[in-house]
Amino acid sequence: MKIVGLVGWRGIVGSVLLQRMQEENDLLNITPVFFSTSQFGQYGPVINNISYDILKNAYDINSLKNMDIIITCQGSEYTNQVYPKLRQKNWKGYWIDASSALRMENDSIIILDPVNYDMIISSIKKGIKTFVGGNCTVSLMLMALGGLFKQKLIKWITVSTYQAASGAGARHIIELLNQMGALYSTVQKDLLNNLTAILDIEKKVTNMSRSSNFPTDYFSVPLAGSVIPWIDKKINTGQSREEWKAHAEAQKILGYNNFTIESLCIRIGAIRCHSQTFFIKLTQELSLRNIEDIIKQHNQWVNVVPNNISDTLLKLTPAAVTNTLNIPIGRLRLLNIGKKYLSAFTVGDQLLWGAAEPLRRMLNLLINY
Ligand code: HSE
Repeated sequence: MKIVGLVGWRGIVGSVLLQRMQEENDLLNITPVFFSTSQFGQYGPVINNISYDILKNAYDINSLKNMDIIITCQGSEYTNQVYPKLRQKNWKGYWIDASSALRMENDSIIILDPVNYDMIISSIKKGIKTFVGGNCTVSLMLMALGGLFKQKLIKWITVSTYQAASGAGARHIIELLNQMGALYSTVQKDLLNNLTAILDIEKKVTNMSRSSNFPTDYFSVPLAGSVIPWIDKKINTGQSREEWKAHAEAQKILGYNNFTIESLCIRIGAIRCHSQTFFIKLTQELSLRNIEDIIKQHNQWVNVVPNNISDTLLKLTPAAVTNTLNIPIGRLRLLNIGKKYLSAFTVGDQLLWGAAEPLRRMLNLLINY
């Protein structure tokens, strides 16, 4: 069995990865070795009544070198620090990474096998050893629109994202919940006695969100009761890095480049599902029926939600999709602008298809290869 080193398995993405690996019995097909950046030497985890060995030091290149495959959810800083040293020591194993550090390198592949299975397999045959999960919004977009991309039916897309707190990290989820709690606490009595005028309630809530007591250490501004129209660093095109990734990573994953994706990325107060609105220019006129068929035939997780109120409210929200592998896409409509223009809205769990799931599937591809 392949010896697989797991790094960053206690973080938010790593925990979801491990949970999925347990659900799918992946751990029975490998010899897992658990690493830690901070708690090496302590007991390993107990999973399904199996106690794993003492945690190894995730910075110890000699221990890492013994792995056939390393799968890391530790983040870019770790990858930047450890990966070059491992390769310099002539390590020939497979590196599977959730972070963006190596994503755009020439000798890495961005993994999303329902979309680029052939590319992944041919790259394994060519000797590529570095496989990196895509940005969550990009992966979720391609899972939803994979059929249209596969048939090269997309000329351009403008995307608006509605990204959950989890994309920023575990502490951000906690801060969002603390913000929600602070807003609620400030008007709790008013809500109970039902006597306070709504504008007085709103004023108290707004004042709380602007007060120095409001928890904003991680987001730096209120997210509860608000939105934050900037994610990640600014780059010199005026885009955020998150927005830049949409086009750059989609091209790399798909392996062709005659389409354009423009994106505006926004943080909202959802917990772990990212949503996206697409306005699409198609390369040819198609009936809505035809478009829906192409979308739903692409993979087993995407499902077309009929463009009506009840299906949309029941099936096309973060509340409905969280903690599932479903990729619903709805609000599909040919626009009044012209016959090649389409609108769509999709939701996906950013910790599953947006992060952990492509990694565990890549691990299985390598094990079964
Ligand atoms: N960058 C994403 C976000 C997370 O901030 O939501 C995962 O790619």
